[in-house]
Amino acid sequence: MSQNDLIELLPTASTLNGFADDVKAGLLATPKRLSCRFFYDDHGSKIFEEICALPEYYLTRAEQEILKTNANQIAARLPADTTLLELGSGSAIKTRILIEALIGQQGILQFVPIDISPTILEQSARELQQHYPKLEVNPVAAEYREGLVRARQLVSGPKLILWLGSNIGNFERDDAARFLSQVGRCMSRDDLLLVGVDLRKDKLVLETAYDDPAGVTARFNLNILNRINRDLGGTFDLSRFRHEAIYNDDEGRVEMYLVSDVPQNVSIERLNWSVEIGMDEAIHTENSYKYSLAEIDRLAERSGLSLAEQWFDNRGQFSLNMFSAVD
Ligand code: AVJ
Repeated sequence: MSQNDLIELLPTASTLNGFADDVKAGLLATPKRLSCRFFYDDHGSKIFEEICALPEYYLTRAEQEILKTNANQIAARLPADTTLLELGSGSAIKTRILIEALIGQQGILQFVPIDISPTILEQSARELQQHYPKLEVNPVAAEYREGLVRARQLVSGPKLILWLGSNIGNFERDDAARFLSQVGRCMSRDDLLLVGVDLRKDKLVLETAYDDPAGVTARFNLNILNRINRDLGGTFDLSRFRHEAIYNDDEGRVEMYLVSDVPQNVSIERLNWSVEIGMDEAIHTENSYKYSLAEIDRLAERSGLSLAEQWFDNRGQFSLNMFSAVD
């Protein structure tokens, strides 16, 4: 099949200004915060791949196990000529399991991966294209909403939409329901949506998954400061911040912070501006929400989708949820 060019919906200039404005607003807020969207520059996306291979980060392996066990059953539910669409595809390693099941079933397959990292996207599109001659890849570099709109123009006929890896965990619960209902509005009767959702569990298991002894997650978190230094002319000294991951059981979320070891002043050239950071002051960088089964039911209800099927890994750590649009 043909190799398609990357559709790029991330204009650099406006992205850089958007980044600068966001950084300033976040560092002016109390408590200080930086958006986890900015983790995923090329370097950050690569560190994230390293996280996925960590023994403590059970999410990727659990989801992979569920996909391996159920891919053929999932494929069997889909109408012929189904297109595969993926939000936040990254390297699309887990997706290969479904790609193979779908090619096995229908002979050929169109795959539309949507991701904010053009480099990772281009690389994975090329690899997939080489590996699967029956696959047509149409990569779209964009954030979710823009990507979905564009993807709809590329696709006709039934589709399977993937949102794996508990990427939903970065959304506030309200926003997750709202986003899923938007996705639902892009779905017709035959379409299905598969969402990987991490489950609530023991505090220590969660905190170790987000603060691994090898320090990979710490590097991932600190990379956001690197990115500010490089792209915005910041003067963050990474050796003066420490990584923290705390499970907030009431909220059901892992919270990540960068905590300043000393009182310091950091300037950001592109903003012509500098900021004071106190000793032990924390910059909040990420929430990673976990769900109970009742919370997944509630999510379905609020997003107006129907939970058609649900699978778990052997240890019951992770869930894969199949939604259809209710008619
Ligand atoms: C990509 C949002 C699913 O929350 O588990 C991994 C990101 N942060 N380790 C997650 C992340 C720290 C990850 N998601």
